[in-house]
Amino acid sequence: MPNLSNQRRLPAPAAALAGLAVLLLAGPGTGAAAAADDVTYNRDVAPLMQRSCETCHRPGSIAPMSLQTYEEVRPWARNIRDKITRPDNDPDRMPPWFIEKDIGVQNFKEDISLSPEEVATIAAWVDGGAERGDPADLPPPIEWPDGKDWSFGEPDLVISSPDHVLEAVAADWYGLLDPSPTGLTADRWIKAVEVREVLLDEAIVERKSGDLNLFVVHHAVISARERSEVIQTQSRPGGDRGPADLFSVVHEVGQNATHYPEVLGVRLPAGSSLNWDLHLHSIGVEVPFRIDVAFKFHPEGWEPKYSGRGGMISYLTFDIDIPPEEPNAKMEGMQLVTKPGILMTFEPHLHSSGKRMCIEAIYPTGLSEMLNCAGYNHNWVKVYVYDEDHAPLLPANTILRVTAWYDNTLNNPRVTDPRNWKGYGNRSTDDMFLNLSRFVPITEEQYEEELARRQGLERSRVTQDND
Ligand code: HEC
Repeated sequence: MPNLSNQRRLPAPAAALAGLAVLLLAGPGTGAAAAADDVTYNRDVAPLMQRSCETCHRPGSIAPMSLQTYEEVRPWARNIRDKITRPDNDPDRMPPWFIEKDIGVQNFKEDISLSPEEVATIAAWVDGGAERGDPADLPPPIEWPDGKDWSFGEPDLVISSPDHVLEAVAADWYGLLDPSPTGLTADRWIKAVEVREVLLDEAIVERKSGDLNLFVVHHAVISARERSEVIQTQSRPGGDRGPADLFSVVHEVGQNATHYPEVLGVRLPAGSSLNWDLHLHSIGVEVPFRIDVAFKFHPEGWEPKYSGRGGMISYLTFDIDIPPEEPNAKMEGMQLVTKPGILMTFEPHLHSSGKRMCIEAIYPTGLSEMLNCAGYNHNWVKVYVYDEDHAPLLPANTILRVTAWYDNTLNNPRVTDPRNWKGYGNRSTDDMFLNLSRFVPITEEQYEEELARRQGLERSRVTQDND
């Protein structure tokens, strides 16, 4: 059921769509553009559903309904149109991916979002009567073998945490679970990692739009330990995360997979175990669950160009001030990056009232560049992984300016009571101001080398454009 606040927002996407339609009629080269009555499910819509929706919208995954066949998609047509035509940064947009497409870097790994042309195609299909089309156009169904539903296909290794039961009604829970041995007999370099919370009884949880009830694991610092002892893993002062290339990931609520850049070496050692350091959020029913972590490894013998998992480049302040009923509270922070390096990811981390974050680079020359802006929904804390050729390359002494906006009104269903002032807090219902981008420091020599490589790429792009 769409809630009131969603209905109130409807005019804006409708306006955005009208703009798109004009663009499509006018613009050549928009490939997917087609007159409304031309667009069919079998030819135009099914491939998009397969690519951008099915990972979650199929039996056994996390979404409330399956969208794998015409019969399943057709009854949802209007609702789908509503969800996909919202502005890029709308927290209720589907699929959950909130990068603003009109500013900053647009080249990400595993980008599941729909392009403006694809959005227009689906909208035109709905408006044209949601026709099925020619059976011969239908792409073959994707095979989703049971239990092998990882976004990167078959993993090389899956490690489970111990089972844990979260109380129905309780304060947010912070703590450690017993470590899980990896069983590895040789060191392996990690190519990608994906974390899932696994409900041991799917039937008891109803995933509802809007509030904070979608997932119970709000964050999990999952890190490899060379020995089996449990070491402090939170990045509190004095916290030890081990050698720079040792695996460690901060999984956050509703997160997608992390694909490491091809040049980076992140190690899962022989004889290691995984350490689980959790923040859980009760959702009104008792939830037995565990966490599964899937790894994709580089082939044996592969050697990284740069070593290290990439440090967090976080700007954290406790000084958050969000007035009651404030739709657009703003926070801003600056951080000086003293070494040259590559910004691997953009990962806004706010809490319940967060709605948007931007990250901007101010270079030593004084020139500034907006790297990215994204919407925010504390049910879906996404990590946006840049592709190798577009990951921001930062010279030493770049300043990163991070800005975030908060909506503490009834329009934000994740806020408990907007009559309250809100400030910093660890609970999901409080607020934070944190960018968890990973930054890989490199030497001046490596910086020059990478700069030359990028300039070469740019030159060939320009030459191609002029051809
Ligand atoms: C990462 C997982 C994920 C992906 C990918 C995804 N969805 Fe969803 N979707 C969900 C979940 C979970 C819900 C229920 C909670 C919510 O509404 O936020 C949902 C809800 C919806 C709803 C609203 C259902 C209702 O009850 O009103 C629609 C419509 C929808 N999705 C369409 C899509 C379409 C179309 C795509 C692809 C273009 C897509 N989704 C991709 C997870 C996903």
